[in-house]
Amino acid sequence: MDKLVSLCKRKGFIFQSSGIYGGVNGCWDFGPLGVELKRNLRDHWWHAFVTSRDDMVGLDASILMHPQVWVASGHVEKFHDILVDCKECKKRFRQDHLESEQCPECGGELSEPRTFNSMLRTRMGVSEDTALETYLRPETCQSIFVSFKDIVSSTRVKIPFGIAQMGKSFRNEVNPRNFIFRSREFEQMEIEFFCHEDEAEEWFDRWQQAIWDWYVAIGLKEDKLRWYEHPKESLAHYSKRTVDVEYNFPFGWGELQGLANRGVYDLTQHKEHSGKDLSFFDPERKERYIPTVIEPSAGVDRTVLALLCDAYDEETVNDDTRVVMRFEPKLAPIKAAVLPLVKKDGLAEIADALEKQLRKKFNTYYDHAGAIGRRYRRQDEIGTPFCICVDHQTKEDETVTIRHRDSMEQERLPMSEVGTHILKQVSIRDLC
Ligand code: GAP
Repeated sequence: MDKLVSLCKRKGFIFQSSGIYGGVNGCWDFGPLGVELKRNLRDHWWHAFVTSRDDMVGLDASILMHPQVWVASGHVEKFHDILVDCKECKKRFRQDHLESEQCPECGGELSEPRTFNSMLRTRMGVSEDTALETYLRPETCQSIFVSFKDIVSSTRVKIPFGIAQMGKSFRNEVNPRNFIFRSREFEQMEIEFFCHEDEAEEWFDRWQQAIWDWYVAIGLKEDKLRWYEHPKESLAHYSKRTVDVEYNFPFGWGELQGLANRGVYDLTQHKEHSGKDLSFFDPERKERYIPTVIEPSAGVDRTVLALLCDAYDEETVNDDTRVVMRFEPKLAPIKAAVLPLVKKDGLAEIADALEKQLRKKFNTYYDHAGAIGRRYRRQDEIGTPFCICVDHQTKEDETVTIRHRDSMEQERLPMSEVGTHILKQVSIRDLC
């Protein structure tokens, strides 16, 4: 993890938030490369689960919601962590993260456990007396339930169908840790899939397969993934059944995504608290009912962390260590670097013009500084799958070499074909 955290900072993937002020715990900034990786991941997910399917629609709701939402959802009453304090070093811990009855930092005696609500409070409005006290959303899905009626009446959705949303969530985590794994501000990609109760188990199985296939499609190694079934007694207050996809991080197995059967819990709660009818008329069954919800709920940041851990590789080449990020090309922040073999003899001008042309199709980078071998290594370290080299032969026959990141092999192609050749391998729309 130390090597990865240092590479992320050095190369502009991820920085600590407010670093010049000493940083804030549990908040992170995605730098120029991190932001591209994250955007590619989101686009891949959205295309795989929303735009390529005919039973899904999307939503982008506001983060701030009516405070009653969080009463109805059960978060005000039940979204608690149990905390203990060390009487010696005064550090605070989540009881369920402790392995012994002593302080894990100094071995000191721990206080009696007490509950602590994990939602971040805020106030909406400027006047002290009338400002509305509410919370930054701790999960994106509640706005899907709250908008259910509007979506049903404004579209032609028919059960079974799903609503997807991605966006920020906030939790006042007691111990943010393991780099971006457990943060206080993070992003989720959630789907609420509405079906008839009789079909819930079947849809649960289908989503389980779809989720697994997606992690494999984004390049995670299958032997680093596994399922974890939550025992009945540790299920969240809304869940009838939950399974998690876990990834084997350098610090151990950790949850990437949960798949839950939320039953009719949320729509029923919002129906009761708002007084609005949230049932659905199913023309095929000729029946009005509250649909059952199957919920795949993934973390963007945790998936980015898994991608970074999975991609990181070191190998010895000619007595030198080559660090290479083996990202799936569709997710790599930069798709191709255009490099003139030397700056002189008009090669830089040809390379510069080619890069400007390719930039319209996908993310590119131009670099003429230093020996070609060093420039290849710089691209390996940030995971660029293709390096295009403009050399003296280019001037004669308008061909270039493409050097492949993983094998380091090179092939020669006409300059006019290079864009389409690469686009085929990096297009997110081509995934299915
Ligand atoms: N709507 C259901 C729900 O929010 P969850 O298991 O609490 O379920 C879903 O969260 C996903 O959100 C997790 O699998 C994880 O990927 C991500 N997540 C949750 N808390 C997080 C945190 N503090 N930091 C980063 N990601 C987090």
